[in-house]
Amino acid sequence: MSTLLHIDSSPLYGRSVSRQLTSAFVDQWKSSHLSGTVIDRDLNATSILPISAEWVGAAYTPEGARTAQQRELLALSDSLLAELERADEYVIGAPMHNFGVPSVLKLWIDQISRVGRTFSYADGTPKGLLTGKKATFIIATGGIYDAQTRMSSFNFVEPYLRSVFGFLGVTDATFLTAGGTAALNQGQDRDAFLAPHLQVVQSHAQAI
Ligand SMILES: Cc1cc2nc3c(=O)[nH]c(=O)nc-3n(C[C@H](O)[C@H](O)[C@H](O)COP(=O)(O)O)c2cc1C
Repeated sequence: MSTLLHIDSSPLYGRSVSRQLTSAFVDQWKSSHLSGTVIDRDLNATSILPISAEWVGAAYTPEGARTAQQRELLALSDSLLAELERADEYVIGAPMHNFGVPSVLKLWIDQISRVGRTFSYADGTPKGLLTGKKATFIIATGGIYDAQTRMSSFNFVEPYLRSVFGFLGVTDATFLTAGGTAALNQGQDRDAFLAPHLQVVQSHAQAI
């Protein structure tokens, strides 16, 4: 039985393009995985503090030697990691904010990047431990950042997500981008704008 981890990080909810597209992905995935399970993790509804020196100390303390306070500090990270480890597939919605990922998504990445759990330098070279997973990233950007365009070098969303998830072992990753959502604020019809993106997302969700 397959498990899909569905993550959203747009604060815009009903107006969010990435949320609408991840939701279409989930609906399609459910219809082709009738006995599958979906775990929803809404990062805008999850309270995540920035990591502290104590948190880092706890993460680098061997599990058996952690104090009760250190275990408590890592409790949220442990439960977010359990979701990632339990799922076989991920769909992650990522709006572009200030050319990068939203801060809630970065806070989550800081929680799930854990030595000995998702990466290791045990033999001197980095090794991702989150293997055998399939990820689909659905990115929404106000402008257009396609390769060869004037603004392409300002896109830190896809390269960052590809690098950090690759580092953690998730190398089977697909990136689907709805670029140019700013047109929606200038009167473009939402359904007409979304139709081709919905089609791409649904066919991808059906194919995987
Ligand atoms: C705080 C904030 C920062 C943004 N920064 C950028 C940006 O740097 N470049 C860009 O093209 N669009 C930017 N946008 C526009 C969003 O990328 C666009 O609205 C996109 O559709 C967001 O995804 P969502 O609809 O799922 O929230 C920004 C939007 C917000 C709310």
